[in-house]
Amino acid sequence: MPQTIVHLIAAARPNFMKVAPLYHALKGDSDFDVRVVHTGQHYDHNMSDAFFADLGLPTSDYHLDVGSGTHAEQTSTVMVRYEKICLESRPDWTVVVGDVNSTAAAAMVCAKLHIPVVHLEAGLRSGDRRMPEEINRLVTDAICDLLWTPSPDADENLLREGVPPDRIERVGNIMMDSYELLRDKIEQAGTRAEMGLADQAYGLVTLHRPANVDNPETLAQLVEQLAATSEKIHLVFPIHPRTLKSLKDNDLYRKLALATNIRIVEPVGYIQFMNLLTKARLAITDSGGLQEETTYLGIPCLTLRPNTERPVTITQGTNRLAEPGRLLAEVENILAQGIPERKCPELWDGQTAQRCLASLKARIHGSSGSQVQSGLGVSVS
Ligand code: UD1
Ligand code: UDP
Repeated sequence: MPQTIVHLIAAARPNFMKVAPLYHALKGDSDFDVRVVHTGQHYDHNMSDAFFADLGLPTSDYHLDVGSGTHAEQTSTVMVRYEKICLESRPDWTVVVGDVNSTAAAAMVCAKLHIPVVHLEAGLRSGDRRMPEEINRLVTDAICDLLWTPSPDADENLLREGVPPDRIERVGNIMMDSYELLRDKIEQAGTRAEMGLADQAYGLVTLHRPANVDNPETLAQLVEQLAATSEKIHLVFPIHPRTLKSLKDNDLYRKLALATNIRIVEPVGYIQFMNLLTKARLAITDSGGLQEETTYLGIPCLTLRPNTERPVTITQGTNRLAEPGRLLAEVENILAQGIPERKCPELWDGQTAQRCLASLKARIHGSSGSQVQSGLGVSVS
């Protein structure tokens, strides 16, 4: 039997740690010829190449070089350039991950060319259509042939939307696979030591959602709250390029940089970032991935958003939603409490890539794999 050609679409920072475990699983199986397609949505060294190096991803397969732009520019450029690749060298399967513009764009290309396409991290819903990611999730899940979900709420969302159960397979959370694959390197990294950080003596901050950082009033409020919070606990803040630009454009960067107990750094690679996160006392964020990583590690997380598409991080994990104006009060609450007991949602176990591999093998060898039954338990054969 000829090898099955699989394209993995990688585009932006949160995609790389979702693609890498699957890349390594497929690479190790002679049924598959796996190729990484980097759309180039993120392109700075610290937003892209650093992750390819940390995660052992190949840089030489395909690069679409789309760069930044409006939503329509980014989405349409990925479509035009990825369609060309598919027409020249058609994959048997394409895997899209997460919820960025490139995810929906590549899924649309495949659906129209009748290339089977699977969505990894399917079914998440914030219910907030003002978030561009929610639109990308809805579009992607509506057109993919196979939906790999991380948690029961995702199965339930898809079933409620009328997706046939045989398109849904719960595989778990692949982010944890990347962490487990690199756990030794993360523990050995010298990032904390180089920054002189004592264990549990600092908070880690990441912010990049347009609703927080593109709105000058909200951003000013956040700067004020972060400065006040830093008087209670030292803060380390690797700044996303969108946020840096907005801070500078709105004349807020200086105020943040002058706060004595906040260390502002450039975005850091995956191994360095996880070295910082594993011993943080708490995280302050609006990131999707960080809500999950803090739950997995048992670290208190304040998510500065009115909603989340990852509810298990609240019901079973360490996450809590907070308004920007209440940041200091929420941090004081956390500091007054002990370190929470670590609990972990089912199938967040470092084995998700293996379940994806089994699912794809079942499809190419003619059996359908396991499927969700009424949104309840799933095991992958
Ligand atoms: C994108 C995703 C978001 C994800 C985030 C992860 C969409 C709609 N948004 O948001 O879901 O949570 O990535 O980080 O797909 N920039 C650089 N260098 C880079 C990348 C971006 O300077 O390597 C700057 C550019 O000014 C760019 C801006 O950041 O215009 C925003 O980049 P973009 O990819 O459009 O959106 P993100 O905010 O990064
Ligand atoms: N991350 C990193 N370096 C940083 C900030 C984040 O390695 O400076 C990692 C971290 O593992 C996080 C992931 O990037 O979970 C997700 O990135 P981001 O917050 O940009 O995207 P989102 O998950 O919100 O889509």
